[in-house]
Amino acid sequence: MRFIKTKDYEDMSRKAANIIGAQIILKPTSVLGLATGSTPVTTYANLVKGYQNGDLDFSRISSVNLDEYKGLTRDNEQSYYYFMNHHLFKHVNIDPAKTYLPDGTEPDANKACQDYEEAIFATGGVDLQLLGIGHNGHIGFNEPSDNFADKTFCVDLAESTIKANQRFFASYEDVPKQAYTMGIGTIMAASKILILASGKDKAAIIKEAFFGPVTPAVQASILQFHPNVTIVGDEAAFAECEEIF
Ligand code: PGA
Repeated sequence: MRFIKTKDYEDMSRKAANIIGAQIILKPTSVLGLATGSTPVTTYANLVKGYQNGDLDFSRISSVNLDEYKGLTRDNEQSYYYFMNHHLFKHVNIDPAKTYLPDGTEPDANKACQDYEEAIFATGGVDLQLLGIGHNGHIGFNEPSDNFADKTFCVDLAESTIKANQRFFASYEDVPKQAYTMGIGTIMAASKILILASGKDKAAIIKEAFFGPVTPAVQASILQFHPNVTIVGDEAAFAECEEIF
């Protein structure tokens, strides 16, 4: 694993966008695995700047997102499709037909998950997967468990995740309790993985996930077994990992 310590959130976001931008320049037909959450927001803003200043061309890029809430339509402001469109897709020249997320409106979970695995397979596979990390070590919506999921599945969100995400909804009741998420096997199949972490509230989980035992109780810990992982974190997120710097 490669660890890159940055000064702060802005610095993390610039460096992350530079890494993703390099991927786009080196392979203009890249399949990007994308993530939602607060952490990548400014990374996306920097990618938009890269497009605006002529450095980055998304016209041949495909994207696959980690997850989507079950039950939310694309025009729901809390859906992850809406998030991606708002922060990235509508600002760059990516072909909307090549931006994939699980279909949150598909009530048949088996169908939604199988369709999504097929869509990812049809892209040819993810070149670079961007990830955030939850306070409980989740990646995508792979919540702490006694096993690792192989493929895209319908997950019951952890209580702590529902509470963490409540900030975006009017009330606890409004937060979806299920989501469709890539499985750990789907995520691990990416050629390269880029994890972002910012803030002191991520310091404990960064240490546990990447310096502790590999266990499904901390799903991100499996990334220790991936051959090409880069973690870009700010000083606060790496506060408990000082021995490596
Ligand atoms: P955050 O979410 O970027 O909003 O902290 C990360 C996650 O839950 O995966």
